[in-house]
Amino acid sequence: MSKPKLLVARRVFDETLLALREHFEVEDNPADTVWTPAELVQRLQGKDAAFITGSERIDAALLAACPQLRMVATMFVGYNNIDVPACSAAGVLASYSPEVLTETTADMGFMLMMAAARRLSESEHFLRSGRWDRWTIDLLAGFDVHGSTLGILGMGRIGQAIARRGVHGFGMKVVYHNRSRLDAATEAELGGARWVEKEALLRTCDHLMIVVPYSAQTHHAIGAAELALMKPTATLTNIARGGVVDDAALAVALKNRVIAAAGLDVYEGEPQVHPGLLEVPNVVLAPHIGSATLATRRAMAGLAAANLVEAFAGRKPPTPINGELWPQWLSR
Ligand code: DGY
Repeated sequence: MSKPKLLVARRVFDETLLALREHFEVEDNPADTVWTPAELVQRLQGKDAAFITGSERIDAALLAACPQLRMVATMFVGYNNIDVPACSAAGVLASYSPEVLTETTADMGFMLMMAAARRLSESEHFLRSGRWDRWTIDLLAGFDVHGSTLGILGMGRIGQAIARRGVHGFGMKVVYHNRSRLDAATEAELGGARWVEKEALLRTCDHLMIVVPYSAQTHHAIGAAELALMKPTATLTNIARGGVVDDAALAVALKNRVIAAAGLDVYEGEPQVHPGLLEVPNVVLAPHIGSATLATRRAMAGLAAANLVEAFAGRKPPTPINGELWPQWLSR
């Protein structure tokens, strides 16, 4: 029996390709080219499945142009690049890769918050530029993280992992805003984390952590008006997705010291970065590396591969997005 045909849209680990090749006829992308939508459609012709990342957009137009496609598996936890209702309407199973990156991404969020609060990027630039000639009482003085109030927008798995770090490692108080409230036991475990309205979150926190998924509802959830509610000593960290924060408004707020500092791993229109953010000193910038440890990236790719292998072997995949298609999907 011939193997199903799979497109692996970006360069992945050899071990992932090897595992996939046991079950699929694989076309891969060793050059790691980011294909245009038209190129992606062309590569997907005749393919039964696609292994994707955050850089491939799966929408109704692509699905209509690739009628043979039965499954898309992203190695990301965020799947705002996949039109899930369109996939379901086309009978295309979609899977994502949660949990395996939670702790690594929480580490990154915490690091960016600390780096912003303690002005790490500014300090390094200052030192490297040869301007450090003496001790000064307020040289690059920042703001404390320990004992302060951590505000979390979006209290899913990663938000909770950050809250645990804050409460148990740094004696922080946690306030959060989320569509749904955590149960009392989880709030207690997170040091008595308190659900508050978004406005109260912005007004009370010392350090704001943004971990909410991107959607039409969260587009520019933080813009000029929201930044104006924050303390002038506060920091903002975005490890969620570009577009949740209005980057142009953030650049202005940082320049005018409406807030003290920011730590960013994600940007609107990345890999482009708003030029205003590149000009201000009080922001720590990272190129979307929240989950980038080798162990975690291996686990993410492995989970995406496992979803594909399981589904095509007739077993329910471990982390589907539109799992309601199962088991009818099998008989398609
Ligand atoms: C994800 O998985 O959504 C992350 O942004 C990639 O690190």
